[in-house]
Amino acid sequence: MALERSFLHASTNMASLILLQILGIVSLSTSQAILARQSQGQPLNDIYPMQNFTMPIDHFHNETRYAPHTNDTFVQNYWLDTSNYVEGGPVIIHAMGEDSTFDLDWLQNGLVHQVVNATGGVAVLWGQRYYSGGAIIPYGQYNTSNLRFHSTEQALADLAYFAQKAVFAGLEHKNLTAPGTPWIIIGGSYAGVISAFTRIQYPDLFWGGLSSSGITTAIDDAWSYYDVIRRYGPKACISNQQQLVALMDNVYSSGNKTALSQLISAFNLSESTPYSDFASYVDTPLQEWDLSWASQNTPINGSGSYCNYLTNQTDVANASATLKATARSLLRYANKTATPDANDLYYPLLNFAGYMLNTYSFCDGQTVEECLSLYTPTPFTWLICTEYGQFATGYTPGSPGHPAALPLVSRTLTPEYFLAQCKKTYNITYGPQLQRFNKYGGVNLSYPRLAISTGQFDFYRPFGPLAEFLPNTTAKPNPRIASNGTIAAPQIVIEGAYHEWDFYGFLPNQTTTFKTPVAVQSAKSREIEAVKTWLQEWNQTHT
Ligand SMILES: *[C@@H]1O[C@H](CO)[C@@H](O)[C@H](O)[C@H]1NC(C)=O
Ligand SMILES: *[C@@H]1O[C@H](CO)[C@@H](O)[C@H](O)[C@H]1NC(C)=O
Ligand SMILES: *[C@@H]1O[C@H](CO)[C@@H](O)[C@H](O)[C@H]1NC(C)=O
Ligand SMILES: *[C@@H]1O[C@H](CO)[C@@H](O)[C@H](O)[C@H]1NC(C)=O
Ligand SMILES: *[C@@H]1O[C@H](CO)[C@@H](O)[C@H](O)[C@H]1NC(C)=O
Ligand SMILES: *[C@@H]1O[C@H](CO)[C@@H](O)[C@H](O)[C@H]1NC(C)=O
Ligand SMILES: *[C@@H]1O[C@H](CO)[C@@H](O)[C@H](O)[C@H]1NC(C)=O
Ligand SMILES: *[C@@H]1O[C@H](CO)[C@@H](O)[C@H](O)[C@H]1NC(C)=O
Ligand SMILES: *[C@@H]1O[C@H](CO)[C@@H](O)[C@H](O)[C@H]1NC(C)=O
Ligand SMILES: *[C@@H]1O[C@H](CO)[C@@H](O)[C@H](O)[C@H]1NC(C)=O
Ligand SMILES: *[C@@H]1O[C@H](CO)[C@@H](O)[C@H](O)[C@H]1NC(C)=O
Ligand SMILES: *[C@@H]1O[C@H](CO)[C@@H](O)[C@H](O)[C@H]1NC(C)=O
Repeated sequence: MALERSFLHASTNMASLILLQILGIVSLSTSQAILARQSQGQPLNDIYPMQNFTMPIDHFHNETRYAPHTNDTFVQNYWLDTSNYVEGGPVIIHAMGEDSTFDLDWLQNGLVHQVVNATGGVAVLWGQRYYSGGAIIPYGQYNTSNLRFHSTEQALADLAYFAQKAVFAGLEHKNLTAPGTPWIIIGGSYAGVISAFTRIQYPDLFWGGLSSSGITTAIDDAWSYYDVIRRYGPKACISNQQQLVALMDNVYSSGNKTALSQLISAFNLSESTPYSDFASYVDTPLQEWDLSWASQNTPINGSGSYCNYLTNQTDVANASATLKATARSLLRYANKTATPDANDLYYPLLNFAGYMLNTYSFCDGQTVEECLSLYTPTPFTWLICTEYGQFATGYTPGSPGHPAALPLVSRTLTPEYFLAQCKKTYNITYGPQLQRFNKYGGVNLSYPRLAISTGQFDFYRPFGPLAEFLPNTTAKPNPRIASNGTIAAPQIVIEGAYHEWDFYGFLPNQTTTFKTPVAVQSAKSREIEAVKTWLQEWNQTHT
């Protein structure tokens, strides 16, 4: 999950970013980041015109889950680069999952480009049914009935169907279908689930696979998402975050309605905003934890950053007199041990509100539900609600399965809170069917000719095969990360890296200030080496 990153217009798209984040699914780059990655010459849409393919909507007429069944088809879109193709070369398909066309630069300069350049392959960039990037939505509206064909299983079956039938523009005279041609699937984040599961589910059609930052473990109570930030974030900032969240939770649990409405009004939200909605809204800046090496994005720490606000002992945001009075009053009430003016948390609280007011002013005066369209169906939240879970929760310190340390987000952000949103949004009575994912192995997922990578500091790392700690434990080390795997099945923890860092790149002639980190370079080299090894193995076993 990068997960959903398709927000190009700051305000409305920021709202959808937050919505996804509230539902536990987080967007990972900013519009600046996307712009920085655009081709510097001809527009990418001209270099790689959209291709289409006629795809059955329902691959599983035997499964009651999809009833009523249909024989209809939809138009699946994809993008193609055959310019590196050499007779006998493979097909390298990069599944974008829920991403949109802003991944087109990967065909020009990303990992998929480097792999086809090194192997003489055809490169395909593949979107997913229901998402604007990859497919024309099978049915108009995202209601529960229309979304029934949106599942990971159907998405894998799309890939298997395509691999057996694809005819590529410019290479119509060649039969490049699987299993006669080696197909290798790449994907990251949720699409890293797609790539891993496709390799495992259809091993005869997909000769090899790479899962980068793949979020392969489905789990309801995904508290460890924020635990990565707690462990590795800037200490003073994390401590203030914990204290402020505890303070807000204290105000809420005290049952003092006056104090609670003061708190919510301090952030310019409508007083009728339920506390948990408020709590999920104010944890939004933590998304800035994710960094990119290939674009300019706002780091969580450093000058002008969120952490700068949270740790600064001056009034950074020029707070109003009302806000100052509120901060004093709340601190006096919620923290009886402290003298308000001298309290270490006075400026952090003031600046926390100030940061939210400056950055997310488009919610002013509204409830969080109104502002973020909390109950509006979207394809990705459907997936979360029916299969994935991944609710980014808070917890009560020391409660079963949770750390003793204070959480970074409110303890009211329980799995039940998110499940209630799912049920209300989709009129469903059930929760996520986690075994649809976890049957592939979760943290134990592995397969021959499947490369696995993650960023050391990726906040989705706890839910992938290279998690530092085993899922559902507070700190039980994951034994498999002691190994770097083999040449043919590498396991790569990219040092100092965040989400999907091995996908980005630049052409040698592209003028840019960005430099590929050494650890990223080394991960890519191992991945390209792995693919070459698989192709040698192919040549040895296919004459
Ligand atoms: C599919 O691609 C073909 C060839 O480029 C084009 O003629 C056709 O209009 C496309 N169909 C759709 C539905 O986009
Ligand atoms: C439906 O068919 C698929 C193979 O196409 C199979 O994997 C699956 O188990 C079948 N489901 C049922 C309920 O029989
Ligand atoms: C789909 O087509 C098959 C073969 O023509 C037919 O047997 C089946 O009833 C059709 N299913 C639906 C849902 O229309
Ligand atoms: C790989 O890229 C280099 C540099 O752009 C180019 O000279 C070479 O022909 C490419 N290889 C293939 C197989 O296209
Ligand atoms: C939920 O049910 C209501 C009332 O029947 C309906 O209007 C709404 O469209 C349904 N929501 C979805 C996402 O299907
Ligand atoms: C293409 O190759 C596959 C084997 O990979 C074969 O089953 C199929 O019939 C071939 N298609 C054509 C049109 O020759
Ligand atoms: C209460 O105030 C003390 C003293 O400033 C501070 O260390 C502590 O973090 C505060 N606790 C909460 C929950 O606000
Ligand atoms: C409720 O909180 C306010 C501060 O926001 C405080 O002034 C008031 O005394 C509190 N009421 C009770 C009953 O504690
Ligand atoms: C606090 O914020 C001010 C104003 O933005 C800035 O000049 C100062 O460097 C910050 N201080 C610290 C310790 O970060
Ligand atoms: C986590 O623990 C819960 C409760 O015991 C269990 O239902 C779930 O399957 C576990 N999930 C994983 C991924 O281990
Ligand atoms: C794994 O790779 C890292 C980075 O290249 C290296 O520092 C480490 O020693 C390797 N570990 C093993 C067990 O080979
Ligand atoms: C940069 O290199 C690419 C690939 O080799 C080529 O297609 C493009 O035209 C070059 N751009 C410039 C400005 O030379």
